[in-house]
Amino acid sequence: MPFRHLRMGLALGLLLVSFGLFATSSPLTRRVPHETRRSAPFGWQPVKRAEPSRVLPLRIGLAQSNIEELESYLNDVSHPDSPNYGKHWSAAQVAETFRPSDEAVDTVVGWLTENGIHAHRTKLSASGGWVAANVTIEEAEALLGTDYYVYQNADGREHVACASAYHLPEHVSKHVELITPTLHFDVAKKRPMVKRATKPGFRGGPLIGPKLDNIFNDLAHCDEQITLDCLRALYNFEYEFVNTKKNTFAIVEYTPESHNPSDFDVFFGNFSKDQVGERPTLISIDGGILDPNGDLGESSLDLQYALGLVGKNQEVLLYQTGDDVVGGSFNNLLDALDASYCTFEGGDDPTQDGIYPDTAPGGFDEPENCGTVKPADIISTSYGYDEADLTPFYMIRQCNEYGKLGLLGVTIMYASGDDGVAGFGGVCLEPNGTQAIGASIFNPTFPGGCPYVTSVGATQITPGNPVTAPETAVAAFASGGGWSNIFALPEYQKSTVQDYLKKFPPRYPPDIWNSTGKSRAFPDISGNGWNYTVAINGEFVPIGGTSASCPMTASILSAINDARQVRGKSAIGFINPTIYSDTFQGLFNDITIGSNPGCGTNGFSVEHGWDPVTGLGTINFPKLLAAWLELP
Ligand SMILES: *[C@@H]1O[C@H](CO)[C@@H](O)[C@H](O)[C@H]1NC(C)=O
Ligand SMILES: *[C@@H]1O[C@H](CO)[C@@H](O)[C@H](O)[C@H]1NC(C)=O
Ligand SMILES: *[C@@H]1O[C@H](CO)[C@@H](O)[C@H](O)[C@H]1NC(C)=O
Ligand SMILES: *[C@@H]1O[C@H](CO)[C@@H](O)[C@H](O)[C@H]1NC(C)=O
Ligand SMILES: *[C@@H]1O[C@H](CO)[C@@H](O)[C@H](O)[C@H]1NC(C)=O
Repeated sequence: MPFRHLRMGLALGLLLVSFGLFATSSPLTRRVPHETRRSAPFGWQPVKRAEPSRVLPLRIGLAQSNIEELESYLNDVSHPDSPNYGKHWSAAQVAETFRPSDEAVDTVVGWLTENGIHAHRTKLSASGGWVAANVTIEEAEALLGTDYYVYQNADGREHVACASAYHLPEHVSKHVELITPTLHFDVAKKRPMVKRATKPGFRGGPLIGPKLDNIFNDLAHCDEQITLDCLRALYNFEYEFVNTKKNTFAIVEYTPESHNPSDFDVFFGNFSKDQVGERPTLISIDGGILDPNGDLGESSLDLQYALGLVGKNQEVLLYQTGDDVVGGSFNNLLDALDASYCTFEGGDDPTQDGIYPDTAPGGFDEPENCGTVKPADIISTSYGYDEADLTPFYMIRQCNEYGKLGLLGVTIMYASGDDGVAGFGGVCLEPNGTQAIGASIFNPTFPGGCPYVTSVGATQITPGNPVTAPETAVAAFASGGGWSNIFALPEYQKSTVQDYLKKFPPRYPPDIWNSTGKSRAFPDISGNGWNYTVAINGEFVPIGGTSASCPMTASILSAINDARQVRGKSAIGFINPTIYSDTFQGLFNDITIGSNPGCGTNGFSVEHGWDPVTGLGTINFPKLLAAWLELP
């Protein structure tokens, strides 16, 4: 059980502490805005004030110790020039290093007590990361200096959230990362990137094309149909996996995204005969299942190519997250991977994440998975949000968790999005921060713009060109990229990104993009993402998106992990400090043509070297393998 009641001794101690505070400091504590949000996410409207007597499961995320050192800890184990390269941490070391201090716990519980929420009503999570209390809306409004509303979206779904900000006393604020439920809106929103806006030539909706009448399996048609052999040819990827036990590789899917298992045999029967009968290993998180009525595009694409590229010697794990009723979010996955990230007993916040046990018919009626899954060496995810959907604290907390997985030696890969400089579905930002179709401010994606993930954009073969010709940035849709509005420019990409800005300054007014030169730029790398030949319900269809390039690139990197582990070396872990380093200059296939339009502009331009469309370029497997085998 992740939470325990605060022990009496602690509660008593707190009482004394708060008396002490009362005696020495002014009772009129100054309150500061702790989190603010300029407007509700796209599609949500406040419909009424929330009932004062309604009970909220208030959870207070405590500030983690040493979190400001995360980037340097990561560089220490991930930069090729560091003497500690590859010396990844243990899970216990990570949990211990970032565990919130006793002072943080005492301050928060003391503040709750002063405000009439006594220690016996509070619980501290086993990880020490969260303080929880059930409070009424009335209590929460007084405590946080805010108003709660019931919001509704177009589907009639309801969500309780506070209006534009909540406030904390200054001395409390510095010990708190975030409080839920407050401003956050990541309501089990399933947005696989493969199912976005309508693209020319494709039937309405997803980037899935009409049934293919002729299947080619030769290198002469890679400009029309991408197959396993096309990808192997593009990236010089010839490798037989050796280490079938140690190396691990996982693809994440969110229910009801699913696949039809028999489609693997249709795919393998045509493209990889010795794999007929093979399936991914299902790791069910919070009741994740293969829903026969689910959407089959994303999962079929990701898994057919992952299994096909790694071949029969390497297992592929499927992290199927969320049951069929409430679904799951990135936090549900992270809870399963790291017990120290886990939240309240019985699951996450019901207004934000999938909450378990889910007692609805067909729901997952068991406790939330918390630290039950050992993270794989590479974890690839083709789902995402826009930064504007979430609050900064919420994103920062989650992004830091990706960094902590990096310390363990895990490579976290995310698709960068399919709408260029716009958000999902081509939605951009108004000057007041609202997301709207037809708005003109660039709308970066999350977690594609988190500095602790490897963000993957998309390329394509120009129609009429052979597989040996250089690729361009994808033009059939726009590869997600640009500058985050939330995350600072990490050390590892500083000189590369500043170089781009100096040599190729984007000619847009500074109020439509984050032109400060001080924010995280993405993507980091790219890979082919157009016209993948995928079997769905026995037929082949073309599918495209950064949804394709991300797991494809992850599959090839998994071979490098295999080769290193066979030689007794560590997994490649968080690769960004490595791939931007001098040691790795020129090891990617540089993409030099294209752009990523959106928000009524042509987006950013692809240039020699890194650019915010295709990153450093695509994988050149033999070169990267050799360089990584040189590292300790
Ligand atoms: C933000 O600006 C847009 C465009 O001017 C306007 O339609 C919208 O109502 C504004 N939203 C808020 C919350 O101020
Ligand atoms: C809040 O209420 C729920 C439902 O009654 C209960 O399971 C939970 O333990 C309570 N939480 C706290 C912190 O008291
Ligand atoms: C993708 O497939 C379509 C249909 O076969 C074809 O017209 C197009 O040229 C292909 N390649 C690209 C890059 O769009
Ligand atoms: C190849 O794909 C077709 C569907 O286009 C399927 O009917 C056929 O069974 C597959 N071939 C093999 C050998 O599995
Ligand atoms: C630009 O990014 C920086 C840090 O990443 C952030 O502090 C700043 O608020 C952003 N600017 C805008 C206009 O969002």
